[in-house]
Amino acid sequence: MYRDKGCGEVGETDIGSELSLSGWVFRRRDHGGLIFVDLRDRSGIVQVVFSPEVSREAHGAAHSLRSEFVIRTRGEVRRRPEGTENPDIATGAVELYASELEILNRADPLPFTIEEASETSESLRFRYRYLDLRRREMQDNLALRHRITKLIRDYFDSKGFLEIETPMLTKSTPEGARDYIVPSRLNPGHFYALPQSPQLFKQILMISGLERYFQIVKCFRDEDLRADRQPEFTQVDLEMSFVRPDDVITVVEGMLSLLFREVLQVEVETPMERLSYRDAMERFGSDRPDTRFGLELKEMGDLAGESSFRVFLSALESGGRVKGLCGKGMAGLSRKEIDELTDLAQSFGAKGLAWVKVRDGFDSPITKFFPEGVLKEMAGRLEAEEGDLMLFVADSEDVVLDVLGRLRLEIARRQGLIPEGYRFLWVVDYPLLEWNEEEGRFQAMHHPFTSPSDEDIERMLGGGTDDREVLASLKAKAYDIVLNGCEIGGGSIRIHRPDLQRRMFEILGISEEEARMKFGFLLDALRFGAPPHGGIALGLDRLVMLMAGAGSIRDVIAFPKTQKAVCLLSGAPSPVESRQLRELQIRLDVVAEGDPSRRGR
Ligand code: AMO
Ligand code: AMP
Repeated sequence: MYRDKGCGEVGETDIGSELSLSGWVFRRRDHGGLIFVDLRDRSGIVQVVFSPEVSREAHGAAHSLRSEFVIRTRGEVRRRPEGTENPDIATGAVELYASELEILNRADPLPFTIEEASETSESLRFRYRYLDLRRREMQDNLALRHRITKLIRDYFDSKGFLEIETPMLTKSTPEGARDYIVPSRLNPGHFYALPQSPQLFKQILMISGLERYFQIVKCFRDEDLRADRQPEFTQVDLEMSFVRPDDVITVVEGMLSLLFREVLQVEVETPMERLSYRDAMERFGSDRPDTRFGLELKEMGDLAGESSFRVFLSALESGGRVKGLCGKGMAGLSRKEIDELTDLAQSFGAKGLAWVKVRDGFDSPITKFFPEGVLKEMAGRLEAEEGDLMLFVADSEDVVLDVLGRLRLEIARRQGLIPEGYRFLWVVDYPLLEWNEEEGRFQAMHHPFTSPSDEDIERMLGGGTDDREVLASLKAKAYDIVLNGCEIGGGSIRIHRPDLQRRMFEILGISEEEARMKFGFLLDALRFGAPPHGGIALGLDRLVMLMAGAGSIRDVIAFPKTQKAVCLLSGAPSPVESRQLRELQIRLDVVAEGDPSRRGR
C-alpha cells in the first residue's frame, strides 16, 4: 500500500497509529541526529522525522534524499514536542516518526525550487510546467477551475440545457481574429479552420430544435496576445430559442450568482447594473468600464469653446471633442511628474495633455486663455477641489474617450482608488455596425449574425448601403458582461430571417458569392424554419482568473502559451517532416528556423 491517507490529512486523531504516506520531498533538514523531511502531496504537507533510534536503516537512507524525490514511508504519528508546532500548516501539531523508507523515484537537481517558482521567469516556469504546477497556488487555481466548471455544468443541466459538442475541424467563424487553419490530406489544397467560436453551429442547433444548448469549449484565435488573451481559450457558450435579451441575461446572472455564492461566499446583487454603450464611453471612456470607482470623464466642449486656447478651439473646429478628468489630490505633482503623465497620454495616442492645478486659485500655463468664470465652471463640473489636478484632452472623439479612459484607470491605480470586491455590469444598446476607416467600410460591432433592434429592422432593410448616417445609427440586440473592468462575456440575439442576414452581408460588403461560400450552410438553414434565438459566450479563463485573484489567465490554464503563441513545454509549433508536407501537397517557401521554443533562450 502506497498510502493510508494524504499528507495534508494527517491530524491529531492519528496520534499513536501507524500510517503509510507517499509523496514528494519538499524540504529536508539534516540535524545530524535527526533528519526532518516535509513530505508533500496534493492534499498538503506533513513533517516526517527520521531517527536512528526508530530505524537505523530508514535514517541511513534518508541521508540520500533530495528535493522532489518521490518516496513512500511508514511510521507512527506523534504529537510534536511543545514549542515545535507549526501553526502555518494544517498538520502542524503532529509528525510521523518513520520506521520505513522506500525511494520510489529520484529527481535531478531542479532548475528552480518549487517554493521559489513564483519568482522564476515565466519562460522557465512554462518550460518546466510540471514543476511549476506542483506549487500550492497553481494547484489551487486548477482545483478552483474544476469546481467552477462542475457548478456550471450542473447549473445548465438544472435549467434544461443540453451540452452538445461542435466540430473543431470546421469552417471559419468570423469573430474578428485570424483563423488557425489545418490542411486536409484527403482534399488537397483544402483547409479546415479551427473554430474562433461555435457561433454558427450553435445557431444551427437552434434551427434543429434543440432549444437550449451549452458547451464548455475550446476556441482558437490567431491574434495579438495579452495577459487576458490566449490563442486557445475556453468559452462557456450557450444559445437559447424563443428568447429576448432579458432571458439570456437572467440565465447568466443566475449562473454567476451561483458561482460567486458557492465558490467565494460572495452575494452578487441581481438584476445587475446596466449601462448603455454610449454612456459607458462618455462617462468612462471604455466599453468595459471598471465601475468600482468614479473618476468619470466630463464634457468640456462648451466651456472650451469660451476660451481662447488654440489647442481646444482647433479640435472643436475640426469636429473633435474636449473632455476632462479630475486627478484627486494630485495638485502636488511636480513639473517632471506632469510631463511623465503627458508622455503617458501621448503613448495612448493623445497629442498632449492640458492641465490646471487647483491650488490657491488656478495654476497652469494655460489659465491665461480662460476667463476666471470658465475655470470655475470647469472645476465645478469636475468636482475639483483645492489640491486637485484637472486634466483635459482635445482631439477626435475616439482619441479623447480612449485616452481619458486609460488615464482614468492609471490614475485610479496610482492613487489607490480601486476598492476590493466585485462589480458586474451589463453594457447594452450597442451600435450594430462600426465604420472601419482603413478599409472604408462598415464592420459588425459584434459579429455579422447579430440582430438589429426591432425598431431598426425596417430602416436596415430599406435604403441604400451608402447611407452612412442611417447605418451608423442602427442599434444591435447585443450585450456584454463586464466584471471589474474586464470583458468576461458577450452575446446577442441573432438574425433569424434569411433576407435580413443577406442584407447584413451586403452592408458589410460581403458579396453574394462570398456569403454562399463562407456561410451558405447557415443561409440555407435559415430558410427552413429558424426560430428566434440568441445567446452568449463567457470567457471561462478570464472568469476563473478574476475569481482566483490571479494576474493573468496563464495562471489558471494548465498548459498556456507564451506571448508568441509558443508552448515552451512541448515545443509547439514546430516544423513537420517533409513526408507529411508531401502528403498534403504543400510546398514551403520559408525554411523554419528550428524549434521556436528554443529560440532566444
Ligand atoms: P466573443 O468574441 O465576445 O463572443 O467571445 C466571448 C468571450 O470570450 C473571451 N475571449 C477570450 N478569452 C481569452 N483569450 C482570448 N483570445 C479571448 N477572446 C475572447 C472574452 C469574451 O467576452 N460567438 C460569440 C458569443 C455569442 O455571440 O454568443 C463570441 O465568441 O471573455
Ligand atoms: P502647446 O500649445 O503645444 O505648447 O501645448 C500647451 C499645452 O496643451 C501642453 O500642456 C500640451 O500638453 C497641451 N496639449 C497639446 N495638445 C493637446 C490636446 N490635443 N489635448 C489636450 N492638451 C493638449
